[in-house]
Amino acid sequence: MIDTVKQCVRIKQNVEPFPAPIYVTRPVFPKIEEVTAKLEDIWRAQWLTNNGPQHHKLEEELTEYLKVPYLSLFNNGTIALMVACQSLRLTGDVITTPFTFAATPHVLSWNNIRPIFCDIDPVTMNINADQIEFMITPQTTAILAVHVFGTPCDVEKIQAVADKYGLRVVYDAAHAFGVEVDGKGIGTFGDISMMSFHATKLYHTVEGGALMHKDKHLKERIDLLKNFGIKNEEEVVMPGINGKLNEVQAAIGRIMLGYMAEEREKRIALGKIYDEELGDVPGITLMPKVEDNIRLNHQYYVIRIDETKFGRSRDYVYDHFKEYNVFTRKYFHPLCSEFTCYRQLSSAAPEKLPVAVKVGREVLSMPMYGGLTEDDARKICGILKSFRN
Ligand SMILES: Cc1ncc(COP(=O)(O)O)c(C=O)c1O
Repeated sequence: MIDTVKQCVRIKQNVEPFPAPIYVTRPVFPKIEEVTAKLEDIWRAQWLTNNGPQHHKLEEELTEYLKVPYLSLFNNGTIALMVACQSLRLTGDVITTPFTFAATPHVLSWNNIRPIFCDIDPVTMNINADQIEFMITPQTTAILAVHVFGTPCDVEKIQAVADKYGLRVVYDAAHAFGVEVDGKGIGTFGDISMMSFHATKLYHTVEGGALMHKDKHLKERIDLLKNFGIKNEEEVVMPGINGKLNEVQAAIGRIMLGYMAEEREKRIALGKIYDEELGDVPGITLMPKVEDNIRLNHQYYVIRIDETKFGRSRDYVYDHFKEYNVFTRKYFHPLCSEFTCYRQLSSAAPEKLPVAVKVGREVLSMPMYGGLTEDDARKICGILKSFRN
């Protein structure tokens, strides 16, 4: 019976489901011949990990590409962010956003730091820089902000608050590969920024990540921390961890840099289609627009659905897309402040986070990857519009 109803709806709309699943993203795969050639280099060098030639070259190449003074590679973004907290010796409370991936507050917990959740901006969905000041207490040591979906935080305001109260600033820039503000790499803001090079990101090393910073001594400390604190064969100078990126992944990262410009262009074209097709639909809010001084990476395309104006809820849209073989994602729902491990914190109370709670209910990540055709994107928009009540 339910199947018959679904079929009738489809016939009425005259839209067939996609023949194969359309996911929210698909990793960019480099040409296998390029990978094989690099593997041959690694085999010739007989060096698999521990700061080998591929690692060394990739650090150099990314430092230039991302326009940052110093960069340290890691085996993933989470370990990188844990090391960032260790390297700055953060303790006590750190003010962060509830609208992010689980890794952001978890990294604080793993450092014995209490996350303090601050509400978000209704437009950018980033931490609300105007509210940070009201959350500072004698226990606060830092602000951990996230450039959500690659939209830069209000870096100037955040720095001004940090300077006024003597706080450190760490950015989770996991989504912000290649983002620039006034021609400066996004990793030049704050004390340290982290990027994730996970396979689902615009740029990847299969798994991987990096810390970016301005201080040569900090690089030395970070590089020790990611290698067990080993200074030389005779000396271990701090309790480090294993955060090293291996040669095979570093080599893939070097190849992937050659794919970035084209992948970004394809995503820009898809973003324009979403803008065009969905711009006038009542109840749909598009990706936030930014000033001309900001270069975005177009990694994600995220919409918000206001049920009262659209006539259907975000959850309705998410569920019904599946009937058409379209698998969107509810990034970021639930909020981190709603996780069982954080909801007892006083800063996690929903009434203190009204914007984040609303955004978490409305947000939907649309399919976005270079392999998606422009016709696919138009069809996805057509399906979405057909859900209107
Ligand atoms: C906002 C944010 N922070 C941190 C991470 C963790 O990065 P990784 O998966 O490389 O450990 C992610 C990853 O997906 C993320 O989206």
